[in-house]
Amino acid sequence: MKKEFYLEKTHNLEKKILLYQIYKTIFIEKLSKENFLKYINLSYIESFLFYNEHKVSIGIGIFSTVENEVEIVNFGIKESFRKQGFGYYILKNIIEIYKNNNKENIFLEVSTQNTYAINLYVKLGFKILNVREGYYKKNHGKKEDAYIMKKKTISS
Ligand SMILES: CC(C)(COP(=O)(O)OP(=O)(O)OC[C@H]1O[C@@H](n2cnc3c(N)ncnc32)[C@H](O)[C@@H]1OP(=O)(O)O)[C@@H](O)C(=O)NCCC(=O)NCCS
Repeated sequence: MKKEFYLEKTHNLEKKILLYQIYKTIFIEKLSKENFLKYINLSYIESFLFYNEHKVSIGIGIFSTVENEVEIVNFGIKESFRKQGFGYYILKNIIEIYKNNNKENIFLEVSTQNTYAINLYVKLGFKILNVREGYYKKNHGKKEDAYIMKKKTISS
């Protein structure tokens, strides 16, 4: 079922702090608040808050945009809102926005162990380009491999 949602680009500090609070609940590898704010303030970084139909915040997305390429830096839905179609419809919508802004390629890196995310990206048309070995540092110093995935927004 298609979900109703809202995207908000984060511009002011209050929203960026909310973004950080949600980021901390979703991702294992965490930047400090200071480094996180420094990063999302970079000129080529675009960050979004996602809301459901009741205007409740449900997730975040951080994208790096350079020339005609986009990299998905972080994309996540809060745990209690997962498996309801939000991830799929929201990312599909964001890809459409970038396509309309003439971004031709979208890249991402995802742990080879992150089956849910890989399934989501494959469903959205991403293809595995290659494997980066020992890229994801996990607890106890254990490393995980990552897939580099790519989607062309404009078919040739
Ligand atoms: C990956 C993530 C964004 C998916 O969001 P979501 O809103 O739960 O996803 P959706 O409900 O829209 O599901 C879309 C597709 O993703 C895949 N998927 C999502 N959850 C899954 C699960 N528990 N098991 C298997 N596949 C799953 C499926 O292909 C699904 O399509 P389907 O319902 O037709 O099977 C979410 O699990 C998440 O935030 N994870 C933590 C952060 C993360 O790993 N982000 C990605 C790396 S940056």
